[in-house]
Amino acid sequence: MHFSGRIVGWHHCPFGKHEEDVEELAVQAVRGALADAGVAAAEVDAIYVGQFNEGFSPQGFPASLALQADDELRFKPTTRVENACATGSAAVHQGLQAIAAGAAETVLVVGFEKMSDVAGREVGEILLRASYVKEEAEIPGGFAGVFGRIASMYFERFGDQTEALARIATKGHRNGAKNPLAHFRKELPYEFSLEPSDKNPRVAGPLKRTDCSPVSDGAAALILQSPQAAAGKPRQVGFRAAVHVQDFLPMSRRDIILFEGCREAWGQAHAEAGTTIADLSLVETHDCFTIAELIEMEAMGLAAPGQAGALIAEGQTEIGGRLPINPSGGLKAKGHPIGATGVSMHIMAAMQLCGDAAALQVENAKLAGVFNMGGAAVANYASILERVN
Ligand code: COA
Repeated sequence: MHFSGRIVGWHHCPFGKHEEDVEELAVQAVRGALADAGVAAAEVDAIYVGQFNEGFSPQGFPASLALQADDELRFKPTTRVENACATGSAAVHQGLQAIAAGAAETVLVVGFEKMSDVAGREVGEILLRASYVKEEAEIPGGFAGVFGRIASMYFERFGDQTEALARIATKGHRNGAKNPLAHFRKELPYEFSLEPSDKNPRVAGPLKRTDCSPVSDGAAALILQSPQAAAGKPRQVGFRAAVHVQDFLPMSRRDIILFEGCREAWGQAHAEAGTTIADLSLVETHDCFTIAELIEMEAMGLAAPGQAGALIAEGQTEIGGRLPINPSGGLKAKGHPIGATGVSMHIMAAMQLCGDAAALQVENAKLAGVFNMGGAAVANYASILERVN
């Protein structure tokens, strides 16, 4: 399906640990995005709110928190969207659909999450509810346990990838150190990521702390407009493709180390966009754990299964390499406040395409890919973005 909606403005709160509650974070992001887009609250036709929650915040039913930003948002149709860690992209794609259906000309999308109020162990328990509870709830270590198991299976089939995972972590932190919006703004030496230590303990299977995205708070919002409503706007980023592929929930029903839903989403996205992976200038991909980035490289067609490690060692996914992956620092260093993540990924891609990415800028960025997933490749959202003005 062709989506004509365009991103015309955004606001991204710095990710990290924040004193503010979800409402304050949401309000900041919404006000910032409206101002950045030069759109009055009264012009908004529909609002999509992304939050996972499941116990991270005591406040349920979050849709109307967006309305706290401006009284003019009162009475606007507002819907909360949820699809685990892909919640933010689900909200973005829902906004595109409202415009494609002719139901809205201007859409506000906001994603937020406040994770740091609950204790570490409880964070894992909450996140594990996004697994297939009947079979997977006993996996120790929360969602890290799920990806630890995936990493172990990958190592068994294709050999030890400890070095590749350490290089992914190091790249994430190197890029994140230059991103003022990132949770971690500190480089991590490769040797530190490589070796388990007191400061870098094993978390689950072969995964160490440095292989994990952190527990973050944050909010991000963007404004989508139809081409007519966007006329004259100084920055317009369009969607050559926006694809959502949903796979089975139980890992037992899938060859889990192939991320087939991710592969399918990219295949459909390129067919829709008339592109191949070689056409992309950069990709923001869902590196909730370093093993996820490794497998996603294979699922996006950069390397055959088991071969992605070699590309990483050659530096092909660094800024300045053949295909920069996660120039923003990715979830690994930028942070992963669940409901905000997909919105953030689209903003990072839009910034690159508009030449606004400062120290992270990929030279001559023309087409940007975004891949955001919920669960272990269960909810799969692929977008291909390009600047259209
Ligand atoms: N990567 C690198 N460093 C990290 C880190 C991470 N993911 N998480 C924490 N740290 C650092 C902290 O900054 C702190 O450093 P300091 O001592 O220099 O101040 C130190 O490690 C200890 O932090 P703490 O918060 O006590 O770590 P922890 O062991 O309680 O938590 C994880 C670490 C990896 C278990 C936690 O970040 C986690 O659960 N991540 C996964 C979240 C998740 O599952 N998300 C959903 C994905 S689908």
